[in-house]
Amino acid sequence: MSTPTDNRANNQKVPDIDMPEGNLGVLLPGFSGAVSSTFVAGVEALKKGLGSPIGSLTQLGTIRFGKKNDTEPPRIKEVFPLAEVDDLVFGGWDIYHDNSYEAALKAGVLEKSLLDQLEGELNKTTPMPAVFENKFVKNLDGPNKKTGKTKMHLAEQLIDDIGSFKKDNALDRVVIVWCASTEVFIEPGDVHDTIEKFESGLKENHPDISPSMIYAYAAIQAGVPFANGAPNLSADAPALVELSQAEKVPIAGKDFKTGQTLMKTILASGLKARLIGIDGWFSTNILGNRDGQVLDDPHSFKTKEESKLSVLDSIFCPERYPELYSDYYHKVCINYYPPRGDAKEAWDNIDIFGWLGYPMQIKVNFLCRDSILAAPIVLDLVLLLDLAQRSDLYGVQQWLSFYFKSPMTGDGTIPVHDVFQQVIKLKSMLRQIKGEDLISHLGLDYEDLYDIG
Ligand SMILES: NC(=O)c1ccc[n+]([C@@H]2O[C@H](COP(=O)([O-])OP(=O)(O)OC[C@H]3O[C@@H](n4cnc5c(N)ncnc54)[C@H](O)[C@@H]3O)[C@@H](O)[C@H]2O)c1
Repeated sequence: MSTPTDNRANNQKVPDIDMPEGNLGVLLPGFSGAVSSTFVAGVEALKKGLGSPIGSLTQLGTIRFGKKNDTEPPRIKEVFPLAEVDDLVFGGWDIYHDNSYEAALKAGVLEKSLLDQLEGELNKTTPMPAVFENKFVKNLDGPNKKTGKTKMHLAEQLIDDIGSFKKDNALDRVVIVWCASTEVFIEPGDVHDTIEKFESGLKENHPDISPSMIYAYAAIQAGVPFANGAPNLSADAPALVELSQAEKVPIAGKDFKTGQTLMKTILASGLKARLIGIDGWFSTNILGNRDGQVLDDPHSFKTKEESKLSVLDSIFCPERYPELYSDYYHKVCINYYPPRGDAKEAWDNIDIFGWLGYPMQIKVNFLCRDSILAAPIVLDLVLLLDLAQRSDLYGVQQWLSFYFKSPMTGDGTIPVHDVFQQVIKLKSMLRQIKGEDLISHLGLDYEDLYDIG
């Protein structure tokens, strides 16, 4: 398989990027969930000047071109033709009927006093009926579902939904970000192998084609960029990667990197840089939102566990540093504890060793808000996938690894988990999109690494 972004990877001097004309549609499977409602309400708050886009690289980040000290690095949003926050229009699908106002009240992440000021905007949109199959998300069920004779018929209904959403809102461009529940763990099988087999599977109701894959298929067929915020197999199925290349649609995933795993990749990258050894890393957390309820099912938890466990090995490279990392014990637990809602609490115990093998310990107690950390990721993914499409990038967008716990590579290469390498990768691609020289980080050019700028 060719490199997913190879249509541009070796081409520094690039044609003009299409300018963002008109509004940009954002369609969210999982529209009535905590992440979606926190994101939509947050953007509506930004439009009214009721908050700041904290945590968003596209809104607050800077990027340097040329040599250090040439000029102050400009804001990313000032030098790239990104869609404006004011131009975002929302829609989505859910098995429940809650609009964003009702969903945000139920999620309990944002304060009612803020939501009341946005009620008019948030009440406007109710979710479209979802493609849903209970066997993939066992702990939930709801009334707002599509029916269809085959999975192909369901995909066609989603494609029609996308078309109607564009028409009703006079949109040329749409991005889809999967913010729906984590589906059960599935290994890629024969039906996920090629697009021919996958399409036959859709027509024959193959049991291993999940709803999230049907959404991904519909998005790509409709020419809409798709990102997967959950850890389940979806657009990363080889057939869908192949389709995204054939249809020239950018895709990205998977599993938003927030909370405990974000902390883990920040800490692990630093420990590895100093060649501190690891004996064990025990992570546990409590959370009480609907996501926690879904993850209480062992099959959905297995999907999440695989995603959370995968991050350390690629940072530590145990095969290269056997004396430091070959034998560490890594355990991840998630406990559903309703009283906490979205206000998750995470504990990490890290057994490390230093000079002459002397042991030490690190304890981390992170009281975070999952959806507060996820919302700016959704915003950045929407804006950057739209930019990618207007810049003729397609297939798996590895430069967006920065936002994910299990970055898709699409070409069999090992994903990058080190958060600092990820941000360099992202900015390098931004420079390339603009046809700017890449920065070597030699000499005094290291500033970019630390000031994300
Ligand atoms: N919040 C975070 O920090 C974070 C981090 C990484 C990944 N995620 C993932 O993002 C997703 C959303 O998280 P959340 O906290 O908003 O969960 P949530 O349970 O509040 O929301 C998920 C929504 O998806 C809906 N849904 C389920 N299956 C659907 C389908 N087939 N089609 C349409 N809607 C469907 C549910 O009804 C629910 O409203 C989860 O998969 C979660 O694991 C979240």
